[in-house]
Amino acid sequence: MKRNDPILAPSLLAGDHGELAQSAATVAGLGLKWLHLDMMDGHFVPNLSFGPETLAALRRHGSTLFFDTHLMLSRPDLFVEPFAKAGASRITIHIEPPFDHAAALQAIRGHGCRAGIALNPGTPAEAIEPHLGQVDLVLVMTVQPGFGGQAFRQDVLPKIAQVDLWRRERNLDLRIEVDGGIEHDTAALCRGKGADTFVAGTSFFAAKDKAAFAAAFAAL
Ligand code: DX5
Ligand code: ZN
Repeated sequence: MKRNDPILAPSLLAGDHGELAQSAATVAGLGLKWLHLDMMDGHFVPNLSFGPETLAALRRHGSTLFFDTHLMLSRPDLFVEPFAKAGASRITIHIEPPFDHAAALQAIRGHGCRAGIALNPGTPAEAIEPHLGQVDLVLVMTVQPGFGGQAFRQDVLPKIAQVDLWRRERNLDLRIEVDGGIEHDTAALCRGKGADTFVAGTSFFAAKDKAAFAAAFAAL
């Protein structure tokens, strides 16, 4: 795969929580490589979702997908080791809560995982600039995190362009991921600004023809 070819990362949050292993198998059965896993702590975001045991169970059930783990936690730094041991491939932390982001990103890499940094719609791109050398993915949230099924926010598009500009100017090996309200049309808008990694929850699980859905993203 070429650098910055489009990647579709279906979000397990929107699947049936009684059939998590089946959802992962559906994703893998389409030939997709990534699964997006949303962790919520009821504090950084007003909702709860999964935990490290969810990842461990999916691994035990045989999933070899790239686990793209999105930590919406006030203290993700306290949970790097459990998520790494449970089978996370990437661990993405948010810039907004106060903790030692640089140390947490270093710990993620120290555990052999890929590291990502996320920012909310209201957070300026400049907030993550000091960490661009420590990550190989920037997650630009296209909704306020906490819930699936929200409407895509067009006002985030210039921020994607800003991160893409830094990537080109500085020749960074970086993926730009978008998450929230992503369907084919909104993904295309993000692609036009430089995004290459597309989290889709509601739209993916609602799609009757998932193979066609995946093919349309591959062609973005
Ligand atoms: C939102 C989560 C998303 C969510 C996206 O807080 O970070 O990953 O699953 O869901 P949709 O695609 O339904 O907006
Ligand atoms: Zn997410």
